[in-house]
Amino acid sequence: MNETTTSQELSRRTFLAAAGGAAALTAVRASGVSLSAAPAFTLPALPYAQDALAPTISAQTVALHYGKHHQGYVNTLNKLTTGTPLSGKPLEEVIRATAGQPAQAAVFNNAAQIWNHTFYWRSLAPQGGGEPPRALAEAITKSFGSLEACKTALTEAALTQFGSGWAWLVADKARHLKAVKTPNAETPLTSPDLTPLLTLDVWEHAYYVDWQNRRADYVKALLESRINWAFAAENLAKA
Ligand SMILES: [Fe+2]
Repeated sequence: MNETTTSQELSRRTFLAAAGGAAALTAVRASGVSLSAAPAFTLPALPYAQDALAPTISAQTVALHYGKHHQGYVNTLNKLTTGTPLSGKPLEEVIRATAGQPAQAAVFNNAAQIWNHTFYWRSLAPQGGGEPPRALAEAITKSFGSLEACKTALTEAALTQFGSGWAWLVADKARHLKAVKTPNAETPLTSPDLTPLLTLDVWEHAYYVDWQNRRADYVKALLESRINWAFAAENLAKA
């Protein structure tokens, strides 16, 4: 161990002591994680139990989708950003700072996928579906003509997204609502004129265990009984 390493080690120890003392140091050591790799980005908790969306989305799908895919994006982003100026920055800032930059594509993809998935889980609810709250219902009627027309537009966006991607309900600056689709990790978060209200994940990993190739049935089931209109209404209120 040279002098520089010793200095770094002492610095880490000082930080850990400030952050939680000996218990934190013991926990990090027990986990086998390098002391220098304390994760800057973490996986947000699911807003419900893993089996709460069944049978529309099974506990097995959630375990894989949340526990493996979503967690995987978090792990990869930490690997990509540790020791860089992006480490520890707010996720939205990382996404906006790297969007549209080919050299930063891996960071953008993983950061955006973390954000998109967190937004997706909150776009669903065990007791979803039904009628939207009044202010959202009025915006939907004004923008689409009816709730059914809104669902049709969301379904079309979800089904015409070729390959992996997302379908979104968004509001523009005039609070006009529309359904849009994005490929891969792309997100309306990077569009200054758009506020995302809710999203549907149409990557195959979101539905293949439960619905196999039947993306249309998955989307229909979500819109009937799992879509979280209250979450969309909260986002519209902030738009
Ligand atoms: Fe996904």
